[in-house]
Amino acid sequence: MSYGKGFPARMMRHFLVLMLFSVATFTLISLHTNSVNDVQQDLAGNRQPYLVKNKGIYEQQMQERGERFARGIKLLQAEEESQLEYQVGRSLKKAGSRSPESKPEGTRRYTDAVFDLDVLDDPFSDKPSCRGNSELLLLILVTSAPGNVDRRKAIRATWGNKKAGDSWRKYGDKPARWKTVFLLGKTPENPSLNFLLEKEARENEDMLFGDYIDSYRNLTLKVLHGFKWARDECEPEFVLKTDDDCFINTPLFLKMLQEHRPYKTDFYTGSVFEGHKLAVIRDPRSKWHVSEDEHLSDSYAPYASGIGYMLSRPALEKILDMVKFVPPFPIEDAYIGTLANEVGIIPLDSGRFSLHHGMWRTCNYLYLLVVHHMPIEDLPVTMQKVRDAPLQCRGSAVHGTWD
Ligand SMILES: *[C@@H]1O[C@H](CO)[C@@H](O)[C@H](O)[C@H]1NC(C)=O
Repeated sequence: MSYGKGFPARMMRHFLVLMLFSVATFTLISLHTNSVNDVQQDLAGNRQPYLVKNKGIYEQQMQERGERFARGIKLLQAEEESQLEYQVGRSLKKAGSRSPESKPEGTRRYTDAVFDLDVLDDPFSDKPSCRGNSELLLLILVTSAPGNVDRRKAIRATWGNKKAGDSWRKYGDKPARWKTVFLLGKTPENPSLNFLLEKEARENEDMLFGDYIDSYRNLTLKVLHGFKWARDECEPEFVLKTDDDCFINTPLFLKMLQEHRPYKTDFYTGSVFEGHKLAVIRDPRSKWHVSEDEHLSDSYAPYASGIGYMLSRPALEKILDMVKFVPPFPIEDAYIGTLANEVGIIPLDSGRFSLHHGMWRTCNYLYLLVVHHMPIEDLPVTMQKVRDAPLQCRGSAVHGTWD
């Protein structure tokens, strides 16, 4: 076998062409990436939020966003116009003297805005679509860590699935409009994960990305961003906030909402913490610590556990109005409870929100709405129990109260 006489020359020619091409490409790329604005334009134009073309530029972008974030807070600190009045003391009176945050009853005027929700929006990523022809009855917002791809997949296949949610619907019943959306932040140090997330988001259209670093201490920002999007672009009648390690009994939720809709306009329910559970942890070594700068009082107002709590739209709107006056602190569920307390909304304690995944039996799912600590492998069998419950447990009727 011989390559013939022309081989070295041809190789050389190929090599030169390749070199020339590489140099040209490299020059183009560097010219292009020299200007941050160009890249931002390009990112915005191509709607590719997470495709990192150049690490340096990306870091610069992140820094700019960080500054925008800080600017949002500073701007608002200077702003004096926005004012809000709320009756305070109402909830404390009704809830007894559980909260030491007793303020004199009467009207309190909020004047100094300290936080702007707009800084959480990510202008570079597509948002899931939400509005439809008819009103959305229930929006389920699921906080999820970017790496939890398997959990999201399992949820989409079980309780988050359209068919599963409607499985208790009787023939002839009107189907309810409902939706599950996952909340995620930024993971700037992991471009390959971001690439996968982009694909996952495109395929499922159920992921909302916000402009904050995805971390446990930023959970409050994650939930606030989800709530803001829900209010502005979704307008559900009810919103349920949960985590991706929970099981949600969607058929029961929809049945309860359709047949036993909470009559109160300001509805806030979940597994409510009281007593010693409301003490603020000050030890900086704890995952849940909160400094005095972040939350002055040594105790929280009663609040529903973050495993799952439901808010009616009027309650959601009032709570969000209060955000700009109460700087977010890292314990998300306690922060929402604090806001609710400020606007006089009392959480309803419900046994239907279980903090533990025991050996719940089929008939328990005529009552349970949320179960925490559910391993992925238990999701399908639990979903089957939910499907079976109305057929197997004829003796026990679904009772119509939320507690
Ligand atoms: C939270 O997100 C903001 C905005 O991206 C960032 O500046 C901050 O460092 C994050 N905090 C934590 C604790 O991750």
